[in-house]
Amino acid sequence: MSKLTSRYDGCTEVCGRLEHPGLALHMPTWVDHTRDDTTVDQQRIEDALERMDLDGRRILHVGVGNSGFARRFAGRLHLIDGLTVSEREKALADSLHIANYTVYLLNKYGREFLVKIENRYDFIIDNNLASFACCKYHFYRMLDNYLWCLRPDGSILTDQQGMDWTVEDDPRWQLCYEDLEALAGRFPIAVTKVTDTVYRIRGTS
Ligand SMILES: C[S@@+](CC[C@H](N)C(=O)[O-])C[C@H]1O[C@@H](n2cnc3c(N)ncnc32)[C@H](O)[C@@H]1O
Repeated sequence: MSKLTSRYDGCTEVCGRLEHPGLALHMPTWVDHTRDDTTVDQQRIEDALERMDLDGRRILHVGVGNSGFARRFAGRLHLIDGLTVSEREKALADSLHIANYTVYLLNKYGREFLVKIENRYDFIIDNNLASFACCKYHFYRMLDNYLWCLRPDGSILTDQQGMDWTVEDDPRWQLCYEDLEALAGRFPIAVTKVTDTVYRIRGTS
């Protein structure tokens, strides 16, 4: 049974930074992963995707990092759109010239998401689901943004290790599977486990 409270219940309700929500936007060490290896959590999501039917699928990759995901999967997918808040990550992605890979310099918590994102996706992958959250309003807004651009039967994939990592180790945003289940009491979603650590969130409305 889902629990009624979540770790982030004590977090700020509304940060008020409507133009630039999210933490660490101007901290390159946290948002520029062009030179870093793909994280273990990202790899686990990719390995889970390997076991799914990818033919003709459209994916939104939130937090493109070193663009290793696009290099690995673009040939098997209809398209990959990516989000980053790092200009260097976008420059690296563009330099690859992968025809069905488009990266947007776009904040996942922001209002502009609804203006810029025109595709609809079978999967959204975000291994740092709450890692950069500034307040409950923007965390919910991000979830709403994601649900809005999912195709029917589409799903969000995330991983426990990525959710364990938060900016400045803020424990309130270190979510666990039960916290995601509790979200189902507030949003029309259903949460299941793909593996012990990779979780799937589907829209139910
Ligand atoms: C820790 S890196 C992870 C990169 C890659 N997913 C991996 O695990 O190897 C975090 C990523 O999230 C992106 N990011 C951080 N805050 C964001 C926000 N508010 N909106 C969109 N992307 C964001 C960063 O630009 C970076 O690509």
